[in-house]
This record gives sequence, C-alpha cells and structure tokens, in this order.
Amino acid sequence: MNISKFVLIVLAGALAGGTAYADGPGDPAVASSDNGKYADKDGNPTYKISGEGMVDWYSFSGFRRYHSDCHVCHGPNGDGSSYAPALASSMKTLNYNDFVNVVTNGRQNVNAANDKVMPAFASNVNVMCFIDDIYVYLRARANNAIPGGRPPSHEDKPEAAKQSEASCTGVK
Ligand code: HEC
Repeated sequence: MNISKFVLIVLAGALAGGTAYADGPGDPAVASSDNGKYADKDGNPTYKISGEGMVDWYSFSGFRRYHSDCHVCHGPNGDGSSYAPALASSMKTLNYNDFVNVVTNGRQNVNAANDKVMPAFASNVNVMCFIDDIYVYLRARANNAIPGGRPPSHEDKPEAAKQSEASCTGVK
C-alpha cells in the first residue's frame, strides 16, 4: 500500500468518530484459570458461565460495579442510552487494552453538534480496582453469554478477590 492511501484510511478512521481500533476482543473461550479468575488464550480476562446461568465471581462483581458506576450514562445491562453508547455493542470491537484506556483516561466528543463526555476514572478505586470485573461482565453481554438483569447465581468469592480488593481499595 502506498503512503497516500494509508493516510487516507487513517484520516477516514479519524473522521468516522475518533479512535480506529486495531482488532476486536478475540475468542472469549476460557484458556486458563487462576483462583476463580479466567483468561482467554491471549491472557486477557474472560467470563465463565456454567449450567443454569451460573457466572464466575468476577462477572457477577462486574454486573454490580457496572450498575453502580456506569449505567447512569450507558444504560442498564450495557444497552446504551441517548447520551452514551451501548457497551454491549461496543465490546464487540473494543479489545481489553482499548477498554482500559478509555475508562482510565476518559474521552470527549465536544463540538458544535455534540456534548458527550466520558469521564476519566483513573482516580476512582471503585472502578479501577474492579476494571477486569467490569470488562468480563460487558464482554459476556457483548457475546450474549448472559441475559440482562442480575445473574441468578455465581461462584463463591475467591480468597484472591478478597485480598486484592482489600489491598487495592484500602478497605479491609
Ligand atoms: C457521565 C456519563 C458517563 C459515565 C458515568 C460513564 N460513561 Fe462511558 N462514555 C460516556 C460517553 C458520552 C461516551 C462516548 C464518548 C464519545 O462519544 O467519544 C462513553 C464511552 C465509553 C466507552 C467507549 C465506547 C466506544 O464505543 O468506543 C467505554 C468503553 C466506556 N464509555 C466505558 C465506561 C465504563 C466502564 C463506565 C463505568 C465505570 C463508564 N463508561 C461510565 C459517558 C459516560
């Protein structure tokens, strides 16, 4: 590909609404587990659903964290609102790093036609300490692995989750 064609494509991506994402989140299948925390083959956090809709602890925790810090703008169940995009759709194309980046640093789309601000959560321990939890919950929603609403049951809270929560939030 010659340079001018490349520049055009990048420009088109920028005009189409901000960031052009390189690749999607990939296959969500569980490839490894560590104390009740599951990862895909690339080592990124993923969800695990067992029979009867039982979810792993982190997906359940993500459901709760999402509905305390994100749903006011992004709507219940990640379904979106008139103000902010449906993350259950966004997560089909955002990979883990894109997600963490937007949540940490925020994003603004403010001009004559728009007044949309995604806040930066970098200093909010209730979000940043549970970023993987929120990620796996939304990843599961994007793949229709769990329906809307509170998951009917979940795995026990792993000891590792208790410890990292205490050290990360500073609350014992
Ligand atoms: C005050 C309202 C508000 C809150 C609260 C909020 N967001 Fe956002 N978010 C937005 C808006 C508006 C956008 C779209 C910004 C744009 O158009 O560039 C956005 C965009 C995003 C995107 C990028 C979506 C895409 O399609 O590229 C992600 C990911 C995201 N938010 C995650 C979260 C998470 C996770 C939380 C909770 C921890 C959260 N947001 C809380 C308003 C909010």
